[in-house]
Amino acid sequence: MVHNPKTDKTFTLTNDQSGESIKLPVLEGRQGPPVIDIRKLYAQTGHFTFDPSFTATGSCKSRLTFIDGEKGILEHRGYSISDLAGKSSFLEVAHLLLYGDLPNREQKDEFEHQITYHTMVDEQVNFFYRGFRRDAHPMAIMCGVIGALSAFYHDSLDINDPKQRELSAHRLIAKVPTLAAMTYKYSIGQPFMYPRNDLSFSENFLYMCFGVPSEPYKVNPILARAMDKIFILHADHEQNASTSTVRLAGSSQANPFACIAAGMASLWGPAHGGANQAVLEMLDQIGSVDRIPEFIERAKDKDDPFRLMGFGHRVYKNFDPRANVLKAACDEVLEELGVNDPHLELAMELERIALEDEYFIQRKLFPNVDFYSGIILKAMGFPTSMFTVLFAVARTVGWISQWKEMIEEPTLRIGRPRQLYTGPVARPYVELEDR
Ligand code: SDX
Repeated sequence: MVHNPKTDKTFTLTNDQSGESIKLPVLEGRQGPPVIDIRKLYAQTGHFTFDPSFTATGSCKSRLTFIDGEKGILEHRGYSISDLAGKSSFLEVAHLLLYGDLPNREQKDEFEHQITYHTMVDEQVNFFYRGFRRDAHPMAIMCGVIGALSAFYHDSLDINDPKQRELSAHRLIAKVPTLAAMTYKYSIGQPFMYPRNDLSFSENFLYMCFGVPSEPYKVNPILARAMDKIFILHADHEQNASTSTVRLAGSSQANPFACIAAGMASLWGPAHGGANQAVLEMLDQIGSVDRIPEFIERAKDKDDPFRLMGFGHRVYKNFDPRANVLKAACDEVLEELGVNDPHLELAMELERIALEDEYFIQRKLFPNVDFYSGIILKAMGFPTSMFTVLFAVARTVGWISQWKEMIEEPTLRIGRPRQLYTGPVARPYVELEDR
């Protein structure tokens, strides 16, 4: 049942200079803060609103994910992230985000079949990799090859055809892991491994990353389960920077492959999906427990660009529920692998000290999803440069589900923010000899 957000509530806005007032409608979602509908504000007042990083701006209606930053709640279509991470597979969560509910047995088998049979990429794609330097950052390669997919799958580019929208969604969910594994193999000089249809999504991904043609590769079921859980925790997260990038790109009616490539580029930033790599690099920089106070002070120093990577969040002002699940998974994976990673002890001590410090308490800076994920991924054998790629494999499900939701809205309008202009006003042209 589609929720009707309309209410009879209003906000009155008064211009203190002219004394004019207008009433703005208030819309209410199923849960979360109500919103003031300002779509008629400029027509009625000649004023824009100003919210450069969208701290207080709702950009769309969505039914996919709900976050309560104060209570540390993350739900996908009403299911809690801890239930999904503990009881579902990544592809079940993908089905939930894409179609609106967890699949029954028949739907699950069909969806898994569809994704499995789209995991291979056109053989020509291999040639793109040959053009990259082996030491290219894996995200540079991913941005390139994902955007190139629209050069191949011409039968799934028409955004107005529901069948083509679904086909492009299946292709992206299925092929991004294959391209991610190919990116890893290319960086270490090993041959690409073709996907195997007898393996689950996460088993197949680990096989494509760590298997070699010269001998059989047995996927460790504990690692496959951990990989699947990590993918679930990174699948979708409301209108974060990369998802908003996908939506804005999609609002121009660009094809889905181009939109996901745009999201890929945005995720790369160290303030966003690049943070998991930055956390490990930060822990290496700190080096030992006795140097933690020095770095805590640097993180508080406004003149020092250093930030505690993996700490803080635009929405979570209590704790990031994903970090809690990941910390538990971290312990399990390290124990399973018999790994005693000094990064974990350093990270736990850093968390303890930071959470006792008034600066972090006052600003409600807690560990986020990226704080522990890098430690698990490193233990599983991935280089830090691949961490954001793994984030992108998971978030492709959220991106394409959010894109599909937007395209299927009754009215699709191009996103076109306005601005507060602070540049020079009209002035006469100055010839070169007079400058
Ligand atoms: C992800 O949006 C999402 O949903 C993202 C994500 C998802 O799943 O899509 O959850 C994934 O991107 C997680 C975040 C990963 N990024 C990092 O871990 C990088 C480190 N964190 C910061 O860069 C920062 O916390 C952000 C970017 C995450 C949030 O930035 P905000 O909301 O714009 O917060 P802010 O910069 O306004 O900070 C508020 C205050 C400032 O101090 P004051 O000016 O008030 O004195 O807190 C300080 C900041 O200087 N601060 C930090 C800090 N984060 C914020 N100080 C030290 N270390 C930090 N990490």
